[in-house]
Amino acid sequence: MKTYRIAFIPGDGVGPEVALEARLALEACARKFSFAVEGETFGWNCDYYLAHGRMMPEDGLEVLRSFDAVFLGSVGDPAKVPDHISLGPLLAIRQGFCQYVNLRPIRMLEGVSSPVTTATPQTVDFVVVRENTEGEYSHLGGIFSPDEPHGFATQMAVFSRKGCERVIRYAFELARKRKAQGHMGRVTNCTKSNALNYSMVFWDKIFREVALQYPDIENDYLLVDALTMFMVSKPQRFDVIVASNLFGDIITDLGSVLQGGMGFAAGANLNPEKEFPSMFEPIHGSALDIAGKGVVNPLASIESARMMLEHFGEEEAARALLAAEQEVLAKGMVRTRDMGGSSSTQEMGAAVRAALQAQ
Ligand code: IPM
Ligand code: MG
Repeated sequence: MKTYRIAFIPGDGVGPEVALEARLALEACARKFSFAVEGETFGWNCDYYLAHGRMMPEDGLEVLRSFDAVFLGSVGDPAKVPDHISLGPLLAIRQGFCQYVNLRPIRMLEGVSSPVTTATPQTVDFVVVRENTEGEYSHLGGIFSPDEPHGFATQMAVFSRKGCERVIRYAFELARKRKAQGHMGRVTNCTKSNALNYSMVFWDKIFREVALQYPDIENDYLLVDALTMFMVSKPQRFDVIVASNLFGDIITDLGSVLQGGMGFAAGANLNPEKEFPSMFEPIHGSALDIAGKGVVNPLASIESARMMLEHFGEEEAARALLAAEQEVLAKGMVRTRDMGGSSSTQEMGAAVRAALQAQ
């Protein structure tokens, strides 16, 4: 029997609650579809930092390397550790494991509502492919004479040909796959080359080069500011959006509102070549205000776990889990607080597993 070894990093805040539900969903799929899940939990969070002076052990990446995948709940507790320190390992894993695709589906499921009136299950169904290893997150720069009147800071963005090309190519391949499933077959380039005259002009050039190799896929481009406007006013015009690291970060928070809120926004940090483990995580943060109360919506994490199954090639299990989520949402009997209901995290997770079981 195929066994998948998964490293769970529950993290801070609501992380442990949602990571548990993700794990239970994976285990339920394993039982039904005859594979095994072997999980190991790593308590690398802000409390670990307070005890050890670091967010994860020095050989953390080596430890994770031997797993088939990583599941991350959420990290961050600024009262204990400043965010730019606590989030170091997240970025180190993305970069160190060459997880150059951050795949973030923006899809509204039946039974969910959004404050954006244009958003319906018919209009909101696209995917953001975010560059995840370089761009504006290069960590190059410095703070000079911070307390002097002449003090300044620099932060460099790095756009390499290899880095741009591989993620843009991934977006076109994805659009081709989606087209075969009935989507429109379009990649939209999220850019800002009217102002960023080196990095984004270079990015656009590579986008055009790659696009030429996909004559069957439509391509267009939107400046990121206009793109946010269209995401709200005309979400149905999008199929696959490819974006740099920072722009992808920003537009996927907006996307989460279209799909019904952070409670539904899932993500996968993929190393498509599978040379390293990929990492799956909900987009939401640690939500400290509701942590430990059993009220967080676990669907973003269950969806992220489902993306893990897709990555493993467990297509049948992934489809079944989606159908279970869809059934629970469409029936509307179990609704967490963010959905205007009063069901708990556990009740939502259990309802999805029961629907899966009953299929
Ligand atoms: C995300 C988050 C992270 C990012 C933060 C926590 C560093 O916002 O995954 O979207 O900017 O990538
Ligand atoms: Mg973000």
